[in-house]
Amino acid sequence: KKTIYAAILGAGTVGTGVYKLCQEMKSEFVQKTGADLVVKKVLVRNASKKREGIEDAVLTDNWKEIIEDPEIDIVIEVMGGIEPAKTYIIEALEAGKQIVTANKDLLAEHGQEVMAAAEKAGADLEFEAAVAGAIPIIRPLKQSMAGNRISEVMGIVNGTTNYILTKMSEKGMDYAEALAQATELGYAEADPTADVEGYDAGRKMAIMASIAFNSRVTFPQVYTEGITKISADDIRYAKEFGYVIKLLGLARNTPEGIEVKVHPMLIDENHPLAGVKDAFNAVFVHADAMDDAMFMGRGAGQMPTASAVMGDVVDVMRNLVYNCCGRVGCSCYKQLPVKQIGE
Ligand code: NAP
Ligand code: HSE
Repeated sequence: KKTIYAAILGAGTVGTGVYKLCQEMKSEFVQKTGADLVVKKVLVRNASKKREGIEDAVLTDNWKEIIEDPEIDIVIEVMGGIEPAKTYIIEALEAGKQIVTANKDLLAEHGQEVMAAAEKAGADLEFEAAVAGAIPIIRPLKQSMAGNRISEVMGIVNGTTNYILTKMSEKGMDYAEALAQATELGYAEADPTADVEGYDAGRKMAIMASIAFNSRVTFPQVYTEGITKISADDIRYAKEFGYVIKLLGLARNTPEGIEVKVHPMLIDENHPLAGVKDAFNAVFVHADAMDDAMFMGRGAGQMPTASAVMGDVVDVMRNLVYNCCGRVGCSCYKQLPVKQIGE
């Protein structure tokens, strides 16, 4: 059995969840990939601070211990922000390591540069967790729907603002209290301005539009308007007329060009998006052959995001072990026995 060593950059909300899954799912990952995954290092700013569930011995504040360790094959970047994340990812790619990241800020602004570095290195750069938390949407846009002409991607792609709007509407909660709860629950960004001003949703829409329309949409090209101007009265009046207010992202491929925007919108209370509550997200895709598809699930939070990160890690491990596409029925699947119902 091969051992694959990984390093996690960041031990905050997501990093702690990723570490936890690496421990709890150890034997299942061996079954799914044929390899044992060992987290050798976890990079943090303050390595002397105790981290619940993470052994002290793996903590480091020294990037050199990761980049200069030839045994480490996979770097899982969940520290966030542009720098030093961008430099670390590019250095890791140049050192022959594979990357899994949840960093939408980086991808929406410098995606082209980091993807070019991955291509040059011939390495994997996976980022399913960067958009809509646990919902698989990057791979479907990139692969499953590639046989279509996608004309529209729209939906609720920020858990924090959806949580705030839900609590304000259903519990009459005050904006500040709802934001504090979303932060406490691990939904909000380190600086929640990105959530409430629509920047986080705008970055996710830029990433999805780039993939869906085979283009390069960067965050500054996205129109964003957040929820900070929405008052309790706005929510109450909307409700009286049978509407709910949601922060929606919309990306369209029009004859005049690609248009990407994020802003609050009135949604009929009977529309499927009106039922997407708390930190749930939903993404609708319209394409010519497929028609409509909707994806829904937990868009933020520790374990849902860790789930998406680890899905990418398993994929990368399969590539490292078998150079395998992850196809069902492929020899990399160690099949579990099937119980015959009725016996
Ligand atoms: P977080 O709780 O703020 O954690 C960030 C971690 O990174 C901390 O452990 C911090 O170390 C470490 N870190 C930050 N800058 C560092 C540096 N310069 N050197 C070394 N370590 C550094 O953030 P998070 O919520 O886990 O989010 C991480 C990433 O996942 C972000 O890109 C975010 O956008 C993305 N994401 C988050 C969610 C979610 O629901 N939270 C969902 C999807 C994607 P210290 O602990 O020592 O400060
Ligand atoms: N802050 C983000 C949100 C995390 O609330 O959706 C998930 O990307």
